[in-house]
Amino acid sequence: MEEEEFYQFLADQPQGVEVLRRQGSRVEFATYTELKELKPIKVEKIKVKPPESFLKPIKIGSFLIVSPAMKTLTINPGMAFGTGLHPSTQVSLLLIEEFFKRGWSAIDVGCGSGILALALKKLSARKVLAIDIDEKAVEECEKNASFNRLKITCLRAKPEDIKESFDFLVANLELSIFKREMDHIKPLFKKLAVFSGIYGKEELEEFFGLLTDLKVVKIKRRKGWYGVVVKR
Ligand SMILES: C[S@@+](CC[C@H](N)C(=O)[O-])C[C@H]1O[C@@H](n2cnc3c(N)ncnc32)[C@H](O)[C@@H]1O
Repeated sequence: MEEEEFYQFLADQPQGVEVLRRQGSRVEFATYTELKELKPIKVEKIKVKPPESFLKPIKIGSFLIVSPAMKTLTINPGMAFGTGLHPSTQVSLLLIEEFFKRGWSAIDVGCGSGILALALKKLSARKVLAIDIDEKAVEECEKNASFNRLKITCLRAKPEDIKESFDFLVANLELSIFKREMDHIKPLFKKLAVFSGIYGKEELEEFFGLLTDLKVVKIKRRKGWYGVVVKR
């Protein structure tokens, strides 16, 4: 088939054909129906899993095209900590993804933008409470919940103000805050907790001293920032 004729043939396919790569006379394409005209075709392997490249987000102008396998979070670059760029937020997200179980209730202590609370809701949390002492953060958290059309509760509060206990807790704070607040944070979860925002080995050692009766399940490090998963 001549090149022009070949492309016309591809364009005429009712289900559409996607040209993936062109290299000289070699054309690699994906089709979702059998192309009888191209017989004999030897099918050596059928890939059910899409190639990694299909999962990469594509930015075209102001459009961001993502695969349904991705969980998207829309975060307003506003006045609160939690854009997703900081390693302590990234460690928290990775540990949430690994340990959180759908249907659990959850609390995010020091929610900032609400990024972790929203991630928990995306992972099918039954209910999520996001608290922060900063009023601006609570406003941003509410805005981001609305951008993502996710129902969570954002509240201006300290851990000691909360009288309820949740299956899962996440807190991306700082060592100095953990030292002040740990006694109020501990009663807020029943099963698992992710603590993040601990920088360097020395801080980690000090942090372990605050855990007393809790069991460490996993430690994760990213660019010097540690995340710790504990259970009762
Ligand atoms: C490092 S930011 C984390 C933001 C977001 N959760 C993230 O992971 O990117 C810590 C947040 O904790 C809040 N915070 C500090 N002390 C707090 C306290 N005692 N109780 C609740 N929130 C607190 C700060 O206002 C800030 O928004």
